[in-house]
Formats: sequence, C-alpha cells, structure tokens
Amino acid sequence: MPAENVILVGFMGAGKSVCGRLLARRLGRCFVETDDMIVARDGRAIADIFAQDGEETFRRLEAEAVEALRLKSGDVIATGGGLPCREGRMAALRQLGTVVWLRGDLDELLERARRAGGRPMLAGRTPEEIAALHRAREPHYRGAHVTIDTGGLGVDQVVARILAALRERHAARV
Ligand code: S3P
Repeated sequence: MPAENVILVGFMGAGKSVCGRLLARRLGRCFVETDDMIVARDGRAIADIFAQDGEETFRRLEAEAVEALRLKSGDVIATGGGLPCREGRMAALRQLGTVVWLRGDLDELLERARRAGGRPMLAGRTPEEIAALHRAREPHYRGAHVTIDTGGLGVDQVVARILAALRERHAARV
C-alpha cells in the first residue's frame, strides 16, 4: 500500500483513537491524534481550553492542527469529532489522504464517549441537543472516501474492515 495518510473521522465515541492505534500497528505506521497535537502545542488539556477560552478558540486550534498535518505522510491520524464539521475542512482532510468515517449508532457512540468521559461538547447538553449535533455533523462525515459501519463490531473487526476497504481502494487505483 502507498505511504498515504489514513484519516479517521466520526462522532465522539466512534472508536477513532482505539481503532486508529491498532490500525497503525497493523500497518507499521505512526499514529497521530489531532487532540494530542493541540494539547502539545497549547499546553492545556482540551477541557481547559473549552472552559477558559470557549469552543471557537478550540476550533481555531483545530484549523492549525489541520495545517500542521500537511507535513505528515503515511501516518494514521485520528481527528476530534468536530474537526471535519466546519466549512472546507473535509475537503482539506481529503487532500491529506484517505478519509475513513467510523459511523455508529448514536446510543452506542454516547455510551462509549460517556464511559471514557472528558467530552466538553456533551457536558450540559440535553439528549435532544446531542441528537441534533449528531444529525448536523453527519453530512460532513459523509464526505469521507470510505464509510465503515461499526455497529455491534469489536475493535479488531472494525480495523479488519478498514484494512479491507483500504486494500480495495488501492487495488482499484493500480
Ligand atoms: C469534540 C470531540 C473530542 C475533542 C473535543 C471536541 C467534538 O474528540 O476534539 O472535545 O466537538 O466532537 P473525540 O471525538 O475524540 O471525543
């Protein structure tokens, strides 16, 4: 497979980090998370950036992280759930490599996201507001090159499906 980046997108709790880490290991690639890039650069935890400076500041830091990703090649990159959901962002991600959407059922996503905790975008929102946020984001995620339905699947199975989809795309191109 060529040394193209693989970029995982999807709602909070989709498994971007855990699947991305395993995918990177299977491919012998480096694993990068945009949230980690932001924390390393800003020096504060994500929750503190939200609490002290608000969402818009965080989204600006995400834009900078997307710029910094242009230096990457052959990496597996997990993005924050809201990162692709701004004008022009999905187009920018598609320029960087193969974009894979980990699509899941909202109840399953939320159960996982809540279990892990530390999600400022879920804090203080009603279930209706969260469902609306999820609905509003789906059209953005749909811009990915590849969609993997993760419902009921374990991490190994999701990674196997991503690998199969990447191989299929590669075979179609050579
Ligand atoms: C966010 C998702 C988080 C993180 C930040 C904002 C969002 O990443 O970037 O809390 O807007 O959905 P995960 O998708 O890894 O939870």
